[in-house]
Parts: sequence; C-alpha cells; structure tokens
Amino acid sequence: MGGSAGGALAAAVSTAGGLGMLGAGDHAWLDRELGPLRALRAPWAAGFLTWAITPGVVERVVEAGARAVMFSFGDPAPHTGVVRDAGALVVLQVTDLDEARRAVDLGADVIVAQGTEAGGHGARRGRSTLTFVPLVIDLAGTTPVLAAGGIADGRGIAAALALGADGVLLGTRFQATPEALADPMITTALLAGRGAETERSTILDVVRGSSWPSRYAARTLPHPHLDRWRGRETELAADPLAQRDYHADVAAGVIPPLPVWAGEAVDLITELTPAADLVEILATQATRALARVR
Ligand SMILES: Cc1cc2nc3c(=O)[nH]c(=O)nc-3n(C[C@H](O)[C@H](O)[C@H](O)COP(=O)(O)O)c2cc1C
Repeated sequence: MGGSAGGALAAAVSTAGGLGMLGAGDHAWLDRELGPLRALRAPWAAGFLTWAITPGVVERVVEAGARAVMFSFGDPAPHTGVVRDAGALVVLQVTDLDEARRAVDLGADVIVAQGTEAGGHGARRGRSTLTFVPLVIDLAGTTPVLAAGGIADGRGIAAALALGADGVLLGTRFQATPEALADPMITTALLAGRGAETERSTILDVVRGSSWPSRYAARTLPHPHLDRWRGRETELAADPLAQRDYHADVAAGVIPPLPVWAGEAVDLITELTPAADLVEILATQATRALARVR
C-alpha cells in the first residue's frame, strides 16, 4: 500500500510470520522507510506501481534485502531482471485474464489475483475474487497464486485456500493498524466504513491531478468530490477549477489528505489492531474456519 505500508508495518508483519510488504514509493520515501527493514532477519517484500517506477528504486529495495518484489498496474517486463539478478522473487499482481497470461509468459514466481472487491486501485471493470481466482489458478499451472480483494478475516483466508489459492494478500485490513501511516481521519473512516458504500471510480484520481492510467479505477469510501462529479467525468476532465477546489478542501481539513481507499470487506474491521497481533488472529481464525469445513 503505497504511502501507508511503511517500514514499521512491513517489519511488524514479517516478524510475526507474514510476508510484510513495503508500499511503493520514490527515493525520498525509501530514505524514510527502509530503515526498519535493513536489519530484519525475517523475509520481507516491496511493492511498486509499475507505471510510476522512478529509476533506481527497484535496485534499492533488492540491495536493502527485499526477498520478493511485487509489480502491479503496468508492464513489469523492464523491471523483472533486476529482481531476478538479486536472487529475489518476482511477484506480479494481475487484475484481469490478459494480465494473468502476461504474468505467466514473463515467468512470474508468484501471481496475485486481485478481485474487484479490493480496496484501492484495480481493473476499472474487474471480476469478483470468487470467480477470478480459480481462473487465474487454472492459467498459472505450477506458479503459486495468492488471492486478493475482500479478505479481512480468517474466514476469507480459508475461502481463498478452498478455491485453490496458495495464500492471500491483504490490504485494507492492515490499514487499520497502529503501524500503518494513515491520517487519523482515514483510520476513523475505516472503522465506521461500510462495504456497500464503497465505490470504484476514476474521479478521485482525476480531481487530485494524479497520473493513474485510466484503465484502473480505485475503490474508496464515500467522498464529497465523488458525489460532485459522478456521471460527469468528461466535464470534470475539462474543468480547470476542479483540482483547485479539491486541494482547497484538503488544505481546509474538510476532506482527508488522501481518498480513503478501502475494500468491500471494510465492515469486518471494527478495531485498530497491532499488526503482529493481527497476523496471529488471522491465522487462528483461518485454522478454525478450515477445521469447520473438513
Ligand atoms: C490503502 C491502499 C493502498 C493500496 N496501494 C497499493 C499500491 O500502492 N500498489 C498495489 O499494487 N496495490 C495497492 N493496493 C491494493 C492491494 O495491493 C491489494 O490488491 C488490495 O488491498 C487487496 O484487497 P483488500 O483491500 O480488500 O484487502 C492498495 C490497497 C489499499 C487498501
């Protein structure tokens, strides 16, 4: 999770037995966030928005000891060599079947199949996790597949394993940990958030002036600027004042500094939980859920 999964969160998850993933970032972000990971004995990973990679950042995370690097949203081909040469694993997150085929062709070590329930960015018109994950597993052959999207407790993990996934990747649930670098307005919104109110849209990218490719849209909690522009996206793109109004609202503290990216499973998050405790709770819940269906 770019911007919120910093070194402290990734280190806490890895130390507890998960594979913590440092979110995407530029050199300034890596200067701040690599510290807690450099000396970590447990394996950790880093993730990048492929379309936004700046020269040298992938080299920096593998030099710092990342054992796996995930690329999402864009063509990973120019970056995989650096990861392999360092002896780390190439993880490719895919949002549709074309991306899944490409991941297999590129020889991904691990594929993450992201369903549309996921928080944050994903395919504009994605598939649900329940139907998408088995298709990717069938395509992937012997390549391990992790399920992502709408998983926030052990029952979701058990369901993904029952689909044939080799593991899961969770985002939204780990935003509600003290280690996540989330503004307090965002944490409060997550704890009160309802999955039925989340919406996948490009509006908040356009109004923020972000350069996200338009084939990806982000799932967020309700937002006043979504209400203002829903159904008027063409008008929004041509309105020079839209971005100014958005940033003025951020400066005035009327809206959070960033959209509240959240997945459909946000209802299952009822408290802020330390990341290490959360890893253990999720494992215990998943074990219980699997025992119930045996
Ligand atoms: C706050 C937030 C930020 C995210 N940022 C990124 C990112 O920078 N790169 C990325 O590949 N995926 C990002 N994602 C998506 C995750 O990789 C993952 O697919 C998703 O969180 C899984 O669904 P879930 O949120 O329901 O657990 C983000 C998700 C959230 C909630």
